[in-house]
Amino acid sequence: MRAPSIFALSWCLLASACGTAPAAPDAATPAPDAGVDAAAVPRDAGSDAGTDAGPPEPGDAARGAALYRTYCTLCHGADGQGYAADDAPALNSQDLLRIASDEFLYANVYDGRPGTPMSAWGDAHGGPFSVASARDVVAFLRSWATEPFEDVSALAADGDAGRGAPLFAEHCAECHGERGQGVRAPTLDNPVFQRTATDGFLLRTIERGRRDTPMEGFEDRLTSAQIHDVVAFVRTLRRDPMEEWPIEDPPTLETLVLHPGGEAPTFTLREGRYVPAAEVAAALAAGRRMVLLDARATSDWVLGHIPGAAPFPFFSVDELAGTLPNDGTFIIAYCACPHAASGRVVDDLRARGFASTAILDEGIVHWREAGYPMARGRLP
Ligand code: HEC
Ligand code: HEC
Repeated sequence: MRAPSIFALSWCLLASACGTAPAAPDAATPAPDAGVDAAAVPRDAGSDAGTDAGPPEPGDAARGAALYRTYCTLCHGADGQGYAADDAPALNSQDLLRIASDEFLYANVYDGRPGTPMSAWGDAHGGPFSVASARDVVAFLRSWATEPFEDVSALAADGDAGRGAPLFAEHCAECHGERGQGVRAPTLDNPVFQRTATDGFLLRTIERGRRDTPMEGFEDRLTSAQIHDVVAFVRTLRRDPMEEWPIEDPPTLETLVLHPGGEAPTFTLREGRYVPAAEVAAALAAGRRMVLLDARATSDWVLGHIPGAAPFPFFSVDELAGTLPNDGTFIIAYCACPHAASGRVVDDLRARGFASTAILDEGIVHWREAGYPMARGRLP
């Protein structure tokens, strides 16, 4: 029989799907989504409303607050002020909340922003959120709104992408990247963003900007026609198709240690914590014994990970630490950030006595761009 996969373990502990109680959460941390789905809320309640179903049920902001603390503060900050890590945008911004519909917020949480630090949190992508939990979080985000909601969904842009291109290069590329790939600002070429941001959302965001962030309004610098041209150009931005990396199942408890018969690697750690990607790549190629942990949400492990790495989301160390060898085997954690989620995992493991732990210094984005091996993952 196959040993239980790490992923299955994490899934069942997080979703309480095994019929056993999850590990007791510490007082400060709400139980990760456990109980939320199992309790009064029917799974997928209000989701994908069919024609007769009417509008989806609104979520429960109090439950959403607890989920937010566990999963979102790491990057977006305790009060949604943003920029706690990874240049994550402000979520308590009135300029965002005024025009972002619940459907926009819901889709960007459930489906994430693939290829950015913003994971897909929905259970269709590996979780941990059910549809109902994602709606609870959206209700909590909505509770920050102090200004009335403005429905901009009927606005249509009628600009010219050819005229918009040089305007974008002049006014936007420095932060959003020439192709909207995001440099010091959110990506604009993201398929989920493109699918969910209406023309009205783009027009208003560009006109007014977002107060107290580097995103200034352009209504004084560009004419209305020029802003329509910029939106037409933004609509042409498309991310390169996904790479065709080999597909792997999550490691089992037996395959978690890579090269179990190999010698231990000799790493030079910067500040006692960070190991350069080149050293990890060389050690793997040389067949050295180690464990690799992907500290992002499991959806990101599915999209692309270092071959042999186990999904080990930063918010489930309590549940998963017991699956790791504590016999000196080197454990390397990585994320996209490059240090926020992996740093959390390494701190939590060290607090539990795992001394031979390190953070992949440059993160997986650099790893991929440097041409080191990658794999995609399959959900069980
Ligand atoms: C100085 C840097 C900078 C410049 C220049 C800039 N932006 Fe932004 N932009 C940002 C940042 C940072 C955010 C996220 C702000 C937040 O909400 O925290 C942002 C947000 C946005 C968003 C919302 C993205 C989302 O995920 O919801 C859009 C759309 C956008 N910018 C378009 C543009 C366009 C078009 C231009 C040029 C006309 C432009 N920006 C110029 C920094 C910039
Ligand atoms: C590892 C860091 C990280 C975590 C954890 C994270 N986010 Fe994000 N989030 C980001 C980044 C970075 C972006 C912008 C992505 C881009 O480039 O498009 C983002 C974008 C968003 C947006 C779109 C905002 C806009 O301006 O359009 C929403 C909504 C959001 N996140 C909600 C959440 C919620 C809710 C959670 C918790 C379930 C969460 N995020 C967890 C990093 C994170």
